[in-house]
Amino acid sequence: MNSPHAHLRSLPPEGADASLGDGPAGGVMNSPHAHLRSLPPEGADASLGDGPAGGVMNSPHAHLCSLPPEGADASLGDGPAGGVMNSPHAHLCSAGGVIGESDAIDTNHDVARPAPLLRDSFIELPARERARALLDAGTFRELLGPFDKLESPWLPLQGIVCQADDGAVIARGTIDGEPAVVAAIESAFQGGSIGEVSGSKIAAALELALRDCERGKLVRPVIVFETGGVRLQEANLGLAVIAEIQAAIVALRRYVPVVGVIAGMVGCFGGMSLAAALCSYLVATRQGRLGMNGPEVIEQEAGIDELDASDRRYVWRLIGGEQRAATGLVDTLADDDTNTLRAAVRAAFARGVPAQHRSEAVDAYLAKLAQIDPADVSPETMRAVFQADALHAGTASAGAHQKQEQG
Ligand code: COA
Repeated sequence: MNSPHAHLRSLPPEGADASLGDGPAGGVMNSPHAHLRSLPPEGADASLGDGPAGGVMNSPHAHLCSLPPEGADASLGDGPAGGVMNSPHAHLCSAGGVIGESDAIDTNHDVARPAPLLRDSFIELPARERARALLDAGTFRELLGPFDKLESPWLPLQGIVCQADDGAVIARGTIDGEPAVVAAIESAFQGGSIGEVSGSKIAAALELALRDCERGKLVRPVIVFETGGVRLQEANLGLAVIAEIQAAIVALRRYVPVVGVIAGMVGCFGGMSLAAALCSYLVATRQGRLGMNGPEVIEQEAGIDELDASDRRYVWRLIGGEQRAATGLVDTLADDDTNTLRAAVRAAFARGVPAQHRSEAVDAYLAKLAQIDPADVSPETMRAVFQADALHAGTASAGAHQKQEQG
């Protein structure tokens, strides 16, 4: 059996060399798990991501930002149709209404903002560079990179060209000097959808981090969500690995916070939205969006009266990052700036493991849901019912409104 899923099922028993990034383990299976176990030690020249295939963008674009029009929904509430972020080079971006104000924290929910006019967009970075940007400088080391050619065995059968990393980048390194693993999903490949291989890479990385945690070596896990959910071409296999990712998050978060980042325009949907909801803390930009079904899917299934997916402004007002922060489903709303997102992720880890995870507040959420009239769902009613901090006050604990450091 050559599929990654099958290989995951044939993992050897727990052993001393199973930790992420520990020395060569002699793994011979062509699986993400086996590859992860057979990597050279920390500090060795294993950074495939530094090679040509990984070097998609070595320096983040610096670009000028301009003040948006007044009003919350002017800040990319328009979504892509607003034409705000289409250029790969310089582009105008929303500053959330404040320029030149550093370390600003909203009183209702954390809002991380960069100070200067000059920003390095995080959203414009491909997944590999996003992972690199979140780790401490110089510590990025990719596992199962493109040269390992772990590609989907299913896409070619459907006439689809594979990508050598199957759209998932796994990177080890440190965050604030602590061991860390970042799983970043590449939205440019198949909408960031999760197939058997990409999902197995993420699940395996989280599971190996879990083994380290169980042995007393805490590894900080970050997942950069940018995904349309299960890859429809891989159906149940995608679903199965998403379940493994979810299980790994739940197991890991007993030891360390699991931090999710939802930054880009694709957003986070399907089973991966549930995975995001299981994270200890979520950081999102206004451009990000979070929902179970994509707007087009809702329109197709329930009709345009239910949701006009072409109404980008309304879609972002309903499920965009700002709305999700206002309704307490996202912990930190951050501007699209690499340093700001780095700082927001570090601040999340500094909070420690929440006293209660959002997904454990089931009764409170059910009580809120009971107040919603399905015939009258609007951004305003959702905000009125799901007020930020009301449900996850327990998650904020100490440092919920601590200032966030730049850089
Ligand atoms: N499986 C396979 N491909 C997917 C996908 C999925 N789950 N989600 C997105 N894609 C693909 C799209 O088909 C498209 O491919 P193309 O460029 O070859 O046409 C590409 O990713 C980009 O998607 P697109 O819809 O053009 O981008 P968008 O920014 O307008 O919307 C989504 C992004 C994720 C909101 C939208 O694609 C969507 O609604 N996807 C389904 C989400 C969903 O309901 N998932 C639940 C699955 S159980």
